[in-house]
Amino acid sequence: MTEQSPALDNLLTESRTFPPSEEFAAKANATEQFYTDAEGDREAFWEKQAERLHWDTRWSKVLDWSDAPFAKWFVGGKLNVAYNCVDRHVEDGHGDQVAIHWVGEPGDTRDITYAELQREVCKAANALTSLGVGANDRVAIQLPMIPEAIVSMLACARIGALHSVVFGGFSPTALRSRVDDAEAKLVITSDGQYRRGKAVPMKANVDEALAGADTVRNVVVVRRTGDDLGGDVPWTEGRDVWWHDLVDAQSDEHTPEAFDSEHPLYILYTSGTTGKPKGILHTSGGYLTQAAYTHHVVFDHKPGEDVYWCTADIGWVTGHSYIVYGPLANRATQVVYEGTPNTPHEGRHWEIVQNYKVTIYYTAPTLIRTFMKWGADIPASYDLSSLRVLGSVGEPINPEAWMWYREHIGGNRCPVVDTWWQTETGAIMISPLPGVTHAKPGSAQRPLPGISAKVVDNDGTEVPHNGGGFLVLDKPWPSMLRGIWGDDERYRETYWSRFSEQGFYFAGDGAKYDADGDIWLLGRVDDVMNVSGHRISTTEVESALVSHPTVAEAAVVGATDPTTGQGIVAFVILRGDAAEDEAGGAEAIQALRDHVAKEIGPIAKPRQIMVVPELPKTRSGKIMRRLLRDVAENREIGDVTTLADSSVMDLISKGMKSGS
Ligand code: WTA
Repeated sequence: MTEQSPALDNLLTESRTFPPSEEFAAKANATEQFYTDAEGDREAFWEKQAERLHWDTRWSKVLDWSDAPFAKWFVGGKLNVAYNCVDRHVEDGHGDQVAIHWVGEPGDTRDITYAELQREVCKAANALTSLGVGANDRVAIQLPMIPEAIVSMLACARIGALHSVVFGGFSPTALRSRVDDAEAKLVITSDGQYRRGKAVPMKANVDEALAGADTVRNVVVVRRTGDDLGGDVPWTEGRDVWWHDLVDAQSDEHTPEAFDSEHPLYILYTSGTTGKPKGILHTSGGYLTQAAYTHHVVFDHKPGEDVYWCTADIGWVTGHSYIVYGPLANRATQVVYEGTPNTPHEGRHWEIVQNYKVTIYYTAPTLIRTFMKWGADIPASYDLSSLRVLGSVGEPINPEAWMWYREHIGGNRCPVVDTWWQTETGAIMISPLPGVTHAKPGSAQRPLPGISAKVVDNDGTEVPHNGGGFLVLDKPWPSMLRGIWGDDERYRETYWSRFSEQGFYFAGDGAKYDADGDIWLLGRVDDVMNVSGHRISTTEVESALVSHPTVAEAAVVGATDPTTGQGIVAFVILRGDAAEDEAGGAEAIQALRDHVAKEIGPIAKPRQIMVVPELPKTRSGKIMRRLLRDVAENREIGDVTTLADSSVMDLISKGMKSGS
């Protein structure tokens, strides 16, 4: 297990608790009874949650775990996910309810009712079919946060095609590897996107990515930035088609087909400990059941009353489960915002909360810490009295940020729910229930009713209260990943080999129990960094660095960062000529940072690159990142006895002092 930083150990001295108000508790969607019911009969509990959805055919068995670790939930059941998220609400008489209050970064807005959403999704489904896309085909989507992104995902779900959404900030190289891995037949993108008040190209990047990609038959292009981008959009005749030409011409009626509960719904790529991203596979019935259930109980969402806002991007799993599938299955009215939080000013989020009377707000600790930096007087100048529940996701939230969130955004009135989960888990796993839990700042606390998690030691034995170790999930759950796309072996190896004897799912996170047995998450225990809530593997960045002609070798670590959680720090050895010519000059370093941004995306740009003469390695040649982390965090260097050459650390430290 990796060493814990002192800040995280401090968590265990945190003893404040915040019970829900009586008024909140009295009306809450979930009660203490949920835990008792779920513990009494887990499968019956989940069966009840599945009944929140419309099934064309009811399942015959709740769970089939006979082929573990490949689960089947609601075996034999059939449903259409898009019908559940859209049509049934219209049929139930809620067609006029706003589904999406969309706010564009430049200030344009659109309100889309469930009836309109139904028409848009039907048209898009017909459009996909007209291009020869059918059930089980893969569609890559790289779009900004515009309604067409959600419509595209639902259109895929409606016809049984799998979407693979690729974050808009990812580079052509990253897009291409995802398109190739999934053998996508279609790509949906836009001409450009707005970023910090500026129109920047998107289609041009997609074209670069797709050069020679022979699985892709068509590219559908949404017009978003239009004239603001200036100049023409690069176009490949016969392959490319405008969304408005294709989709607008379609019929707005489409009969949804019921698919098997285990029909694949989507692939979403996430970083692993190796350079190659993993295509996490999710299926239909169990995924939608848990996404909808958790959105209902964790946010206490009341359809027709609440205005919900999750600030994630649809390029991440949070956008999938808590913008698209969970909220829409629960008939939410939600805000979808296209842009950055400080465009055009630092009060943008609070202005939106005030204008739309947002009641539930779900964001990431990194953004909360950024808001703290900008100052409490900014939210104080808006009316935030509509808010009633606040959520956090993506990384451990430090108690200071939690308290600030509660006080300055939540007016000391709103329960704060710290939700732990992963791309792989599909939906929230560990979180307070806002009407039940006596919340503790910085703790995700307890597995949700129906979920089982434990903190275990190296041997898989549960640790006692106040003990620390690895977080594992010891029982299958409905929205669990069904594998890694095209790589069953990697699935077993990554998640199930660490505690194979016990059959535990290894989450890759360190955790502790406090004296009450509540869970505190401590961050990753593997070579995955968490930068602003985004998972990036050290190997991924290292491969990008060594693909640059001047770099001979590279080692990357995540160093504690007050705003982004972790920051990427790279140690590079330059090649002979480069080492002599430039010796780590500012220009050479900037070129390397830009190169990483180009290879992976701007989010992977190292915060700091240090040119070193050597890297610390064990006798078997393994880089000792632990020691580099000591350097990056300005700590005293730890035990160097396993180094092949113990003088290396002296060289590095000396170089650092004179260098940066
Ligand atoms: C981290 C995001 C502490 C964790 C939904 C996990 C958290 C990884 C929390 C998954 C939290 C997420 N407290 N750590 N509340 N939420 N994490 O796949 O390390 O992008 O393994 O899913 O983020 O990141 P992913």
